[in-house]
Amino acid sequence: MEVWVDGERVEVEAGATVLEAASAADRYVPTLCFDDRLAPFGACRVCMVGVEGADAPIAACTTPCREGMRIETTDATARRIAAATVELVMSELPVAPAEHTELAAMARFFEIGEPRWQGVQHEPRLDERHPYLVLQHELCISCGRCVRACDEVQGAFALTATGRGFEANITAGLDAGFQDSTCVSCGACADTCPTDAITEHLLLDLVQAGTIEGASK
Ligand code: SF4
Ligand code: FES
Repeated sequence: MEVWVDGERVEVEAGATVLEAASAADRYVPTLCFDDRLAPFGACRVCMVGVEGADAPIAACTTPCREGMRIETTDATARRIAAATVELVMSELPVAPAEHTELAAMARFFEIGEPRWQGVQHEPRLDERHPYLVLQHELCISCGRCVRACDEVQGAFALTATGRGFEANITAGLDAGFQDSTCVSCGACADTCPTDAITEHLLLDLVQAGTIEGASK
C-alpha cells in the first residue's frame, strides 16, 4: 500500500498503522502508552498526527493506513493536542517524573516546564511489599503498559487496571500486593513503565541518592 508521510512516499503492508508508516519514513512521532513489544492501546493521545482530509488529528498508534493517505507528523493542531495532554498528565503528579523516564523525555520534547495550571494532584502512595519492585501509585498515568506487559509478554496476569478518570491506577494481586499475586518477578512491568510508577527498589534508591537524575521538584 502506498502512503505519504510529510511528503515522502512509503510502501507499507496492508493493516499497517500510521505510526508504522511514520517509522518507515524515518519520521518521529512522540508516544506514551505505546510500546512496540505490546498491542497498541490508544490511551494517551500523545501520538496525534494530521491526515489530509480528516476533520481532526488522529492517533497514529491505532489508526490503520489507507491507500494514498497523506500524513503530516508535525501538524500544528496535532502537536498542540499532544503537548496539552502531556502537560495535563504532568499537572496531576505531586512530583515531576525522574529525568530518565519516558514521561520526562516527552515533557522535554514538548518543552513543558512547570504546568501552567495546578489541579488536584495524586496523594503519594508507596507500596514496597515486593522484594524487588516498588509501586509509586502517585506517578501512575494509567497508560496500561504494565498490565499489557504482564499479560502479553509474561502471561502472568498479576496486574489489574482500577478506577476511572483521575482515580485510575493499577493494582497487583487484587491489592494483596505483588508478593501475593501471580507475579513471577520478571520485571516486564517496571521495564515498560514510562514514569517509574513501577520501578525497582535498587533504581529508586539510586534516584533518591542522586546517583541518577530523579524528580526535579
Ligand atoms: S504503573 Fe506505569 S506502566 Fe502501569 S499504568 Fe501506571 S504509568 Fe502505566
Ligand atoms: S501512543 Fe498512541 S494513543 Fe498513546
